[in-house]
Amino acid sequence: MTIKWYPGHMSKALEQISELVRKIDVIIEVLDARLPFSSSNHLLEQVRRNKPCIKVLNKNDLADPAVTRAWVQHFQKASGVRALPLVAKNIPEVKNLVKLIKQVCPNRGNPGYPIRTMVVGIPNVGKSTLINTLAGKSIAKVGDKPAVTLKPQQIDLRNGILLFDTPGLLWPVMDDQGGAYRLAASGAIGANALDYTNVGVFAAAYMMRRYPELLKERYKLAELPELPYEVVEAVGRCLGCLMTGGVVDVHRAAETFLRELRAGKAGRISFEEPGTAADIEAELLKMAGIDERPQEQIF
Ligand code: G4P
Repeated sequence: MTIKWYPGHMSKALEQISELVRKIDVIIEVLDARLPFSSSNHLLEQVRRNKPCIKVLNKNDLADPAVTRAWVQHFQKASGVRALPLVAKNIPEVKNLVKLIKQVCPNRGNPGYPIRTMVVGIPNVGKSTLINTLAGKSIAKVGDKPAVTLKPQQIDLRNGILLFDTPGLLWPVMDDQGGAYRLAASGAIGANALDYTNVGVFAAAYMMRRYPELLKERYKLAELPELPYEVVEAVGRCLGCLMTGGVVDVHRAAETFLRELRAGKAGRISFEEPGTAADIEAELLKMAGIDERPQEQIF
């Protein structure tokens, strides 16, 4: 899997965020609820200046509810941090975010003293969708390429909150193979940057271990095959990803399998839990036939 790394963009983005943090009252960090650890940029902590931070666990409709509860508890142990699971398009849930912002900044939000906030996060976590719901209109382009949102915007939400739209773009810091693969499985990494078969086999290994029943149910498997690669083949057979002669097209099977997982077709799944043991991770990578090399292939 070849993933490109843009250190120039990253340091520039952090510099801009660090500058803006001085002027704001609360940071809204959007994370993917299915993988809140790997979808965060840990360098944000360095530029936070102890400002309050609300971690939005977005795409909660796709995540395992029990795991999300554990993440909320985990995050809220840190000082100045609150966590809120939501679905960015869901207006009542986003209104809860507005309430939380006001709770976190009780001394502002009056005429002439708006609560100044900014939304940050890695590509694809749903920042634009959230901003559009907060603003009640389409301001930020959804599903757009990262480089597009470079011009800073200030959005008056007309409820005592002023939103600095950009620069809010960070890139994930992937210091382990597992994190890179989980990001890829969740869809955070563009299709051309990854090898579907590898990522599909990794996702199969994870599902076998963590959600075997969902796997069996969705793909009508009485028993799971022994190897993750065989699971991808079985999924391909179930979904009709066949070549001439009835041989499974494994690449297409892996791609379809990932598309299904990302859309929640097999059920609500989370890719990581607080305190996931490193040895489980190593075992999963081994099961999927991926060696744990030092991670250079970052984007
Ligand atoms: P970004 O600004 O952080 O890069 O993310 P963006 O809002 O563009 O959202 C990325 C993708 O995630 C979009 O899908 C968007 O619809 C989807 N998304 C955002 N929030 C949620 C959520 O809470 N739940 C679910 N299930 N999906 C969410 P897309 O396929 O790229 O675009 P589109 O087809 O929806 O236009």
